[in-house]
Amino acid sequence: MGSPVPRELAAALAGARLVAVMTGAGISAESGVPTFRDAQTGLWERYEPQDLATPEAFARDPRLVWEWYEWRRELVGRAEPNAGHEALVEIERRAPGFTLATQNVDGLHRRAGSRQVAELHGSISRTVCSEERTAVDPRGLDGKPPRCPGCGAFLRPDVVWFGEPLPPGEIDLAFSAARECDLFLSVGTSSLVQPAASVPYEALYSGTPVVEVNPEETPLTPHASHVLRGPAGEMLPALVGAAYG
Ligand code: OAD
Repeated sequence: MGSPVPRELAAALAGARLVAVMTGAGISAESGVPTFRDAQTGLWERYEPQDLATPEAFARDPRLVWEWYEWRRELVGRAEPNAGHEALVEIERRAPGFTLATQNVDGLHRRAGSRQVAELHGSISRTVCSEERTAVDPRGLDGKPPRCPGCGAFLRPDVVWFGEPLPPGEIDLAFSAARECDLFLSVGTSSLVQPAASVPYEALYSGTPVVEVNPEETPLTPHASHVLRGPAGEMLPALVGAAYG
């Protein structure tokens, strides 16, 4: 059993003009996509995801990193959006203004039907040339990783690795939505990885209530105005039901 939704929070969501949301890997956990800080299983249990999602790892062992992303791409392809993703679609339908920033590269928010989505860490479904950053369709190309048909450099997933800059338009949108919103939701993120972890503080500095949805405590917890302690697939539908039901 998770925590009940306080009446004041339900009213704040029902009355919000602009709702801003930040999600992380936890929202896709109930779709069967492992989070980054979960222990890995099977083939990949010897590796730490944080050690694979880096430019250094790709330079050292491009095949290993490519195969890890191939495995994740297949896993994500089989996964379906869950009740948490769907509750955010419902909030977008109901609220006059809505912005969703996600650290996830799995595309499940768009597949669920969310429209206003800033993908801060890119998308696993896109492949680019590691030198030119142009989009390339890898289907039919041999090699792990395949080579760019234009320049011969390795292809890579169009995701942000540790130490790389985020797409400026996306992160700017996340910060400005956090500054301007009436209610901010932080869902399924460990709130450890910068700059995404700083986004909720823009809302807090503006005096805006911040809600954390997470079964575990995070560094954001002591600052949150409300904490819904439980899985997103249960807590978000409960919040939506309490606000609009
Ligand atoms: P993490 O794996 O760091 O954290 C997942 C969070 O989800 C944890 O706080 C869990 O307690 C929580 N969680 C687990 N199950 C949940 C559920 N059913 N409902 C709600 N929450 C749940 O994932 P992120 O915070 O997304 O970056 O990690 C941030 C970034 O670090 C990722 O985008 C990735 C990563 O390494 C890059 O690859 C650059």
